[in-house]
Amino acid sequence: MNARSWLRTVKSVGATSPSRSLRAWRGAWRNRRLDAAATAGRRGERARVPGALIKAEPEPGGGVLGFERTTLRITVTTGGAVFLGWDGAEPLPSYALTGRAPQPDSRAQLEPDKDGGWRVVSERAMVVVSRHGAVEVRTPGGVVLRRELPPRWWESAEGVSGRWVQRSEVAADARFFGLGGRAGGPRLRGGTYRLWNTDPGGSFGPDDDPLYLTMPVQLVVADAGTHLVFHDCTWDGSVTLREGEEGAGSGHDRPGRSELRMEGGPLRCWILVGAPSRVLRTWVSLTGAPALPPSWALGHHHARWGFGGEREVRRVLDGYRAHGLPLDALHLDIDHFDRHQVFTVDHEHFPKLAELAAEALTAGTRLVSIVDPAVKADPANAVYAEGTREDVFVRDGAGRSVRGVVWPGESVYPDFTDPKVRRWWGGLYEERLGHGFAGFWHDMNEPVSFAPFGDPTLPRSARHALDGQGGDHRAAHNVYALCMARAGYEGLVRLRPRERPFLFSRSGWAGLQRYGGTWSGDVASDWQGLRASLSLVLGLGLCGVPYSGPDIGGFDGEPSPELYLRWFQLGAHLPLFRTHSALDAGRREPWEFGEEILEYARAALLQRRRLHPYLVTLAHVAHRSGAPYVRPLWWSDPADRALRDCEDAFLLGDALLVAPVLEPEVRQRAVRLPRGHWYDTATGRLHRGPGQVLLDAPLSRVPVLARAGAVIPVRGEDGEVELEVWAPVEGRSGGGLVVPDAGDGWEKVVAERFTSAREQGTVIVRGKDGEEPGYTVHVRGL
Ligand code: NOJ
Repeated sequence: MNARSWLRTVKSVGATSPSRSLRAWRGAWRNRRLDAAATAGRRGERARVPGALIKAEPEPGGGVLGFERTTLRITVTTGGAVFLGWDGAEPLPSYALTGRAPQPDSRAQLEPDKDGGWRVVSERAMVVVSRHGAVEVRTPGGVVLRRELPPRWWESAEGVSGRWVQRSEVAADARFFGLGGRAGGPRLRGGTYRLWNTDPGGSFGPDDDPLYLTMPVQLVVADAGTHLVFHDCTWDGSVTLREGEEGAGSGHDRPGRSELRMEGGPLRCWILVGAPSRVLRTWVSLTGAPALPPSWALGHHHARWGFGGEREVRRVLDGYRAHGLPLDALHLDIDHFDRHQVFTVDHEHFPKLAELAAEALTAGTRLVSIVDPAVKADPANAVYAEGTREDVFVRDGAGRSVRGVVWPGESVYPDFTDPKVRRWWGGLYEERLGHGFAGFWHDMNEPVSFAPFGDPTLPRSARHALDGQGGDHRAAHNVYALCMARAGYEGLVRLRPRERPFLFSRSGWAGLQRYGGTWSGDVASDWQGLRASLSLVLGLGLCGVPYSGPDIGGFDGEPSPELYLRWFQLGAHLPLFRTHSALDAGRREPWEFGEEILEYARAALLQRRRLHPYLVTLAHVAHRSGAPYVRPLWWSDPADRALRDCEDAFLLGDALLVAPVLEPEVRQRAVRLPRGHWYDTATGRLHRGPGQVLLDAPLSRVPVLARAGAVIPVRGEDGEVELEVWAPVEGRSGGGLVVPDAGDGWEKVVAERFTSAREQGTVIVRGKDGEEPGYTVHVRGL
């Protein structure tokens, strides 16, 4: 923890309440003692490396290589994913994977290679293992994408430590992305990134790392190809990256480097090779399809910590209505709980919550409830009393319940890594549904225990069920929120089997998308925070979690009207479009920033509403293929190096390119274009990529470009879906997908594909069998 974050933590703990603060100090000392005991015994550790390769046993999809001091299992799956498991590690059990063992590709064969090495040749990748345990993953054509050097383990006299390090090399031109939600990206520059879900303890900016949602997933993009590598290990660790350099030192390329150090856990990894869309498709086939949000969750949300009571909620709802601003969801934070206790209501300030929910729904606004995992340790608290009877809370090695300090004061933590506990917790959402809540916002689930120093979480020695494997917090910490999301999601499916659950979670891990999305957390209210917002959404999407968005306007403080508006305009093009702020922050309602800002925010909101059918379609695309709604510009042209380095614009699906304004006083901005023809949707002017253009970005809007030929489903004035078609250039064609799903349930919807073509100045739009589309068509750009 650096001095800045230390100060911030002291401040935030102190700002809570004197008794909470005292408890937090006590808790931090207790954890320090416990953690010191848990990590003792590193002395006398010895390093181990694989040694020489001595045997090879073929198996379906690859085989097992025996080294002097370890084994390496290589399996290529039918989906083309490469699994490498050292020291007997197998793909399952895994918190990231869906639970089904991926099928080996029986066509992939283990065969001898030169110099005593072995290789597995498959349709999508070639894996070559050297005599000393270096592993190269190459394209089918033989170009090296990644070289994993022989790993190294440390073992103490008792043989327990289990720390290991894996160094890897990639091409000199490669760029790194991913590692979960990182504020300083999306391109991850040289530096060390920790893999330990952490509440930064106050608002954060691009230099804060780690944040709430980390995962050992790297996406590497180079001229030779794209690959994703996932080290399936939930323990604490870090990744040190160094970008390569072409023609470094005496004209030789210096490769890019990645060094992964883990404090324990299995050394096993998956490497997926191919075009970005192919890589993401394979990734979600392993880790699960992104949950489909109900269609209302793709609308506009307003949240606030500190509404304080129904009166204020009504004032905000009325304000939206009075200003002609559609509002699809309103989120209630911990201040609507009875003294911050989860699954309770402050009846004094929210006496008629169910009525309020029903009234809001009539006006088209759903209520979303925050859910914190920590349960106040008070026998008068029903959740605590029941949980104690059911024995659901985390205990320490001596069997005592582990206590932490969060908003309600001294608290205990359900052990979500226990299936029995997940089931119990899932049932508690009934109370929320009874009040009329339609969606859920999981918070503080890194999990947090306030601490003025040390790690603001549970002690490492806390015991967890780990789904039958048993272990301590070192293995469970990073998957705590993932398991909480599973508990909530599965509970909601049981309680409301006809509705798609809406859930998003601050923390998580690989596979979170199966249950829902995430959001930025407490992003700082400054221009850097705005930039960090985009970095998070892009990075998470590349790790398989496509639904996310920032606190528009930033979490704390008071954004200037200009900053608020630019954030609003960005947010209107992100999957989760939500305004939120802290207890003592300034206002965030669009009408609080003056007439001009209100008008422009309204325009962004209405534009979002118009794009709703497109966003619904993108949600289905993400569900079916893993392709995130929000994609980096290099998505369809990873070999274009300028695109790889472009961090201030993104693709929204295939059809749109959004160039948000991320700096103050900017009224024009340079926009990098991928290959193809692009219309400035505001002026209709056509631009040709690849290249860079200078576009107007007046305060009233941010540049949005449409790909020539794109067919985009939009919401017409009467609320019906229409097709907006951007004229292809003469002699060319284009197309697009429409998934006509206005619902919130599980009904099967059939995707419709449309093509567009332009011949002799006429644009023709047709369905898959050449039929006329059953939608009104608006051709633009002619
Ligand atoms: C921290 C969350 O990040 C924030 O969004 C929320 O308002 C506060 N906790 C209070 O619940």
